[in-house]
Amino acid sequence: MKMRIQDLLVFAALLWRDVAAADIYVSSSGSDTNDGSASSSPIKSIAAAQKAVRNQLKRSSTENVTVHLAPGVYLLSEPLRLTDQDSAKSASVKWIGPGALLSGGLEVTGWTAGSQGIYSASVPVGTKSRNLYVNGQAANFARRKVSNRKDFTYTSSGIKWTNAALDWISSTAGISGAEIRFINSFTDRYSPIASAKTRELVMKQNAWYNNNWGYDHVAKPNADFGVWVQNALALLSDGGQFFLDSAAGKVYYKPLAGENMATAKTYLGVLETLVAVGGTYDNPAHDITFQGVSFAHTTWNAVSDIGYVDQQTGGYICENKTYTPSNFESVRPWWCQMPSAIQISAAKNVIFSGGNYTQLGAGGIGIGNDPNAHLSGVGLGASYVSIQDGYFSQIMGNSITAGGIRPDAHHPPDNRMINSRIDISNNIFYNVSTLYSSTVPIFVSYVQYSTVSHNDIDTTPYSGICLGYGWGSNDAGGSSEYVNRGLYKYQPQYSTPTISQNNALDGNLIHRYGYGHTDLGALYTLSKSPSTYVSNNYAFDSSGYGTYTDEGSNSYIISGNVLMSSGIWSAVNGANTGNNTYTNNYYRNGA
Ligand SMILES: *[C@@H]1O[C@H](CO)[C@@H](O)[C@H](O)[C@H]1NC(C)=O
Ligand SMILES: *[C@@H]1O[C@H](CO)[C@@H](O)[C@H](O)[C@H]1NC(C)=O
Ligand SMILES: *[C@@H]1O[C@H](CO)[C@@H](O)[C@H](O)[C@H]1NC(C)=O
Ligand SMILES: *[C@@H]1O[C@H](CO)[C@@H](O)[C@H](O)[C@H]1NC(C)=O
Ligand SMILES: *[C@@H]1O[C@H](CO)[C@@H](O)[C@H](O)[C@H]1NC(C)=O
Repeated sequence: MKMRIQDLLVFAALLWRDVAAADIYVSSSGSDTNDGSASSSPIKSIAAAQKAVRNQLKRSSTENVTVHLAPGVYLLSEPLRLTDQDSAKSASVKWIGPGALLSGGLEVTGWTAGSQGIYSASVPVGTKSRNLYVNGQAANFARRKVSNRKDFTYTSSGIKWTNAALDWISSTAGISGAEIRFINSFTDRYSPIASAKTRELVMKQNAWYNNNWGYDHVAKPNADFGVWVQNALALLSDGGQFFLDSAAGKVYYKPLAGENMATAKTYLGVLETLVAVGGTYDNPAHDITFQGVSFAHTTWNAVSDIGYVDQQTGGYICENKTYTPSNFESVRPWWCQMPSAIQISAAKNVIFSGGNYTQLGAGGIGIGNDPNAHLSGVGLGASYVSIQDGYFSQIMGNSITAGGIRPDAHHPPDNRMINSRIDISNNIFYNVSTLYSSTVPIFVSYVQYSTVSHNDIDTTPYSGICLGYGWGSNDAGGSSEYVNRGLYKYQPQYSTPTISQNNALDGNLIHRYGYGHTDLGALYTLSKSPSTYVSNNYAFDSSGYGTYTDEGSNSYIISGNVLMSSGIWSAVNGANTGNNTYTNNYYRNGA
């Protein structure tokens, strides 16, 4: 057979297609005028790398693309938003980078010493942030503890007191614009201050009204873990505290013992989102992997304006209004979710493997949350998403939030909204939920065929792993408790089950949990989830519960767990907590 040279070339091209893979090289010391096709001519910015990926996908949508991120810090000026445009038709796009860090921060340098051991540095006027990170650790707000919250009386407009020992509050310079934080049994509430009068604070609305509504609230906490007045320069007293004067473009910080501000690495978190992987239900983002890439330095500014009307595990009242008629149940179906630094929704076959997730000012990774927690505006719809081998520390909210809490999450009108096949495994969580302390390392709401396995959770203030949401109120037939509370005047009493089923919390190690709250467990469930396993987990070193099947927890198979904390090993609470089977658990009988 004789082949012409043209035929040979076509043949070679076909062959090449089959095996070809494109590589794009990126380095923080590169240049955006490079094309990035070789490691000797790397692209500099993540934004230019994304363009290079898109150009490559136009050339071929069947070749794998690997973006090699050289070690270094990549300061993002805006979030990296990945859609189906950033996905190959029938191949995968991999972003790999051991040692590469995507940062949403503003590096702060040039600290100068002032009085009382307080240092300051200039930042651009108007810089907004609620988070300063020093040598990898979150600084605290400039703050002072209220000796006894029982000295306060709570009115519809604010706080009053008669004890002279509290008069420092109204005389604090900058008190209008500061805020108060109240840590309760299972909520951690923030309310901004409008102004001060004699022995009185006028609080900003509608946060104040809503923070005194419902359960475990400011005026009626189920437990008291302290109240702080915070976020005014005049309150900066202890090492590890900071204050940002946005109007003046100045940040203040008092170092901890041993910290040297000439060499300390300091960042203000300024971006709220780092990476948003999100398509649409018609055109999902897909086949995207991040391997060994690290993420840091975000913030969440909404709290400064509307407070944090916390309802636990990152759910909060987000609307700046008061509700009429005033029934707390009317708003339960419409709570928002705290956003995460990394967001994945309307997406499939997405892997985040390895890497460090630290110094994140709200959530860490949000998977298929409600639309309000996604920059793309399209929530839910995550399938075959895997978060594995990551190290999580210094995350202010939930480290990982999978699933939504609104009606579309539990009774989706479109099957493409269902969150399924989510795998969270082999991750380490150390000292997380460090600011919004009623959040948790892993919260999984309405999902199916999903697994949380072999994670190591060490040091966290509230529960360890939460599975399920809705307190049973959205399960088929509803809940007598929520009939009594009047919820069904505001939402359906569903006759069909939620999508939750066939999940597993398996083989996790959970220790030093629950040090900052009460009413919590290493393994905390809510609502019905048939064929769902809570198995082979080991929990110890806590006064919290082992398993906690709270309201509506139903149809779980709880087996092979070792529950050695001093709280009740298998606490049960509320209506419809039936049909759970307990086999082969080993436990110590707690209080
Ligand atoms: C792309 O990479 C995957 C592994 O990540 C591999 O299974 C697949 O064969 C590759 N596809 C092509 C077209 O090379
Ligand atoms: C994560 O951080 C640790 C400690 O700083 C470091 O040794 C490790 O290389 C980091 N991992 C990655 C993938 O960058
Ligand atoms: C946990 O992190 C916080 C800051 O986010 C820090 O103040 C605290 O000392 C850390 N605790 C431990 C046990 O490392
Ligand atoms: C919230 O609503 C109140 C009026 O009820 C208004 O005064 C305030 O400016 C609003 N705050 C924000 C941040 O929109
Ligand atoms: C009871 O739980 C099992 C195991 O999850 C499940 O298969 C079964 O459907 C449940 N029965 C009812 C009536 O919910």
